[in-house]
Amino acid sequence: MADILGSLRRTHYCNDLRASDVGSEVILMGWVQRRRDHGGVIFVDLRDRDGITQIVFSPEISETVHAKAHSLRSEFVIGVKGRVENRPDGMLNFNIATGAIEVIITELSIFNESKTPPFMIEDGIDANENIRLTYRHLDLRRPELQKNIIMRHRVGRAVREFMNENGFLDIETPFLTKSTPEGARDYLVPSRVNPGQFYALPQSPQLFKQLLMVSGFDRYYQIVRCFRDEDLRADRQPEFSQIDLEMSFVGESDVMATGEGITKKVFKDALGIDLETPFEHITYAEAISRFGLDKPDMRFGLELKDLSDVAKNSSFKVFADVVKKGGIVKAMNAKGCIDMSRKDIDDLTAFAAIYKAKGLAWIKVKENEWQSPIAKFFTDDEKAEMARILDMQPGDLIFFVADQITVVNEALGNLRNHLAKKLNLIPENTFRFVWVTEFPLFEYDEHEKRYHSLHHPFTSPFEEDYAKLDSNPLDVRSRAYDLVLNGYEIGGGSIRIFDPELQKKIFSVLGLKDEEVAEKFGFLTDALSYGAPPHGGMAFGFDRLVMLLCGETSIRDVIAFPKTQKAGCLLTSAPDKVSHAQLQELSLRVVVQE
Ligand code: AMO
Ligand code: AMP
Repeated sequence: MADILGSLRRTHYCNDLRASDVGSEVILMGWVQRRRDHGGVIFVDLRDRDGITQIVFSPEISETVHAKAHSLRSEFVIGVKGRVENRPDGMLNFNIATGAIEVIITELSIFNESKTPPFMIEDGIDANENIRLTYRHLDLRRPELQKNIIMRHRVGRAVREFMNENGFLDIETPFLTKSTPEGARDYLVPSRVNPGQFYALPQSPQLFKQLLMVSGFDRYYQIVRCFRDEDLRADRQPEFSQIDLEMSFVGESDVMATGEGITKKVFKDALGIDLETPFEHITYAEAISRFGLDKPDMRFGLELKDLSDVAKNSSFKVFADVVKKGGIVKAMNAKGCIDMSRKDIDDLTAFAAIYKAKGLAWIKVKENEWQSPIAKFFTDDEKAEMARILDMQPGDLIFFVADQITVVNEALGNLRNHLAKKLNLIPENTFRFVWVTEFPLFEYDEHEKRYHSLHHPFTSPFEEDYAKLDSNPLDVRSRAYDLVLNGYEIGGGSIRIFDPELQKKIFSVLGLKDEEVAEKFGFLTDALSYGAPPHGGMAFGFDRLVMLLCGETSIRDVIAFPKTQKAGCLLTSAPDKVSHAQLQELSLRVVVQE
């Protein structure tokens, strides 16, 4: 029995055809992008995953086929057979790769019709993102998304090739597992056969990859899905993918070299770019001091300067009081921006307020004076000192924030990125990588009154800082490293603790009681006591890496079926209610608290 394709079997993708194919008979499959009726002759732009080819239906070639082509509408899916011809003089289209040819059709099969799509299937549409996500299967037909998804495939392929060539084993780890503390909330899955008990979906395969090292698989990798119930942003999804790796018998430099090798291979294969390695390094302390953030965008200047010493004794009470209370005053110099309007400055003040800055003081540096609401508070000596630290020249505009250390750095660090975009200071097509090292092992949670791990509790401290674990935990540095690209944290990892006693010590600093450690992590500390090798690793945010390679600003644009800011899938309407019977089977009753 003949199938719907009959004798039609695709010979080419639309984008394959060139002038050198003129004269050959081809069979194409695809979607109608556009149909144009030119009194007698019908032109159709046929689209498949690779591009567009113009196909032509002429009554002189076949009256029946031509008549059938009249019914074609946008997004009908068809198969055609025809002969490749040169386009007539003056009809060439230089905008598409196949613009020199067209295919004169002799056979047409309409596989399926299409309702009118809710938006045009083309690049640069302004359809609302919710509509695009509701009809994601149609959105994904658009060339820009097709390109991104194909890029994602190519990046994954390059990573796998690199890992396979370098002796890494691809080993899967469970999704139905126990909670691992990566700092976000867990997604929980009820167990039917163990009423009242739950699995957690992994926030990362962290513990399993460490256990694999204990098992002797000394180089592991996986491109793996991770699940985190956290507040979502443009670069954060509730489920996302990591390029996850772990190695035994290594130090920081080995893992970093592997991370650089992966990055180099990916950039070469995906973009044809040769990256220079090793990448630059910066300590956490230096990153915060110069850029305010631990993921510094180093493609531009606008560095932050500390003015606490000058401000401390000044008669500007706001600044002086902040410093006396243990806070700081920092500033940055927007070179040549003296003409910025009052409204623009107000907008920047509102932007800084998002990060809890209570104000944004400013100075416009003129030839012989400062125009500024705060100029009058400073002596000539203080002014000279500030001018020196900030390298002030006439025409400059200076911004200040005075507050607690974290507020100042976050507000000015984010303002720095914001201002660089606004002032067009960011060079295009530049990829600036930097490893951030020597993170603090802990941070203090004022709200909960306890220490948290800045990365995760399995990160090894610097050996020379061990003594401070008791006396001054905040001064202990970790053997963690983050890879930052253009201001995005695209990866991170560490050398791990492999001594069960040190691991227990860290849990105790984190405020975990012995019983809690035994219950939550007993399997880990136990595993470490059976000849665990020294080991370390890292994970790249696969989606973020692909996003940057595609020149996108949201990871939703490089994920085939992403979720909304409210963690919903508009296409399938997940999450959703479940039936009473399903709940009963799981021994669950739902009480939604208002
Ligand atoms: P970390 O938590 O830093 O480390 O995650 C590694 C990388 O994953 C990316 N990432 C995300 N991408 C999209 N959406 C999210 N919600 C999201 N959260 C994180 C980031 C980040 O750098 N187990 C450790 C790694 C290790 O120590 O080996 C871990 O998961 O790009
Ligand atoms: P005021 O004396 O409160 O009117 O403030 C004078 C200027 O200082 C204004 O431009 C405020 O935006 C700025 N300012 C006030 N508090 C702070 C602060 N904590 N950090 C930086 N600038 C501030």
